[in-house]
Amino acid sequence: MTGKIDLRSVLPYDSSSQRRFRSSTGIEKAAVGSTYWQSRAKHYEEYSSWCRDLGLFAKCTEPLKSLGEASRCLDLGGGTGWVARHDNELTGRQWTVLDQCADYGKYIRPPITFVVGDAHRTRFPNSSFDFILARSLLHYVDCPRVLAEARRLLCSKGTLVVAQKILAYRGSESEWFSELDRLKRPEPTKAWSAKQLLIAITSAGYILHKVSFLTMPRKIMVREWFESGGKLSNPNQHRINKLFRTAPKSVRNYLKLNFTDDEISYLEQWMVVACQPLTSEAVYKATKSRLPRGRTHGVLHGLQL
Ligand SMILES: C[S@@+](CC[C@H](N)C(=O)[O-])C[C@H]1O[C@@H](n2cnc3c(N)ncnc32)[C@H](O)[C@@H]1O
Repeated sequence: MTGKIDLRSVLPYDSSSQRRFRSSTGIEKAAVGSTYWQSRAKHYEEYSSWCRDLGLFAKCTEPLKSLGEASRCLDLGGGTGWVARHDNELTGRQWTVLDQCADYGKYIRPPITFVVGDAHRTRFPNSSFDFILARSLLHYVDCPRVLAEARRLLCSKGTLVVAQKILAYRGSESEWFSELDRLKRPEPTKAWSAKQLLIAITSAGYILHKVSFLTMPRKIMVREWFESGGKLSNPNQHRINKLFRTAPKSVRNYLKLNFTDDEISYLEQWMVVACQPLTSEAVYKATKSRLPRGRTHGVLHGLQL
């Protein structure tokens, strides 16, 4: 479980499911992704200050309280591994951080292990972890494949926590958001609604334990934002300026969106989902209270209890 994995040995990706990189081979895909993340690595924790938010940290690590301090924890697509580092400082828990971009490893020191790898297909053996966190990862990856990989890596009673920024509005507003995202990033990302994300998680074979929400105020300097993932072209900057100034009223009201020449401020919506691999035992536990008294076996959701 320790030591660095050469990304090239994990590639190629299954390009058929990487819709975002239709024209690329897997190796080019990794290069595109890494260039973007490399350019963000140096100032990641200053710019993406949400990653140090203690409220979000508490929600993401809450299930660990019942798992005990000996749990084996994985921060999947963990970037600088702030959650792993902070939790390790507080509890001494054993963490591994896996990210596709080696530059994030510079933030991580023993006893935390940093592994360069692909969240779609890691090198860890089955059931290697008791707890996996996937925070702000699923919109960058092939979500069903990563959730399936997390299932493979979790022990049967293990817990996965997914934390994602979510869209809190619908319809034409989500088109507005998508255009903004396309202009801002070299590779488009998926914008999830709470419902879509819950469907994705349950469809991947997890049973939900706890779903919670968090609203986080954010303030970003426009120039930093334009430069955070590699400098944006002038036409893209102009179009983004225009998009902000013409944002639908519902978006402005709901997100408390404010945009000046220097600063953007808005409310970010997060959803944190704690779930477990769907096993007959997990289904039984979750539904026991709903079964007739005294009944300890039967068939539920097609699973023999
Ligand atoms: C928004 S950052 C979140 C980092 C961290 N989870 C956190 O909450 O601070 C997304 C991270 O996912 C990583 N990532 C994206 N695609 C990945 C993949 N296929 N395999 C591993 N890591 C990936 C990126 O390199 C980046 O560090």
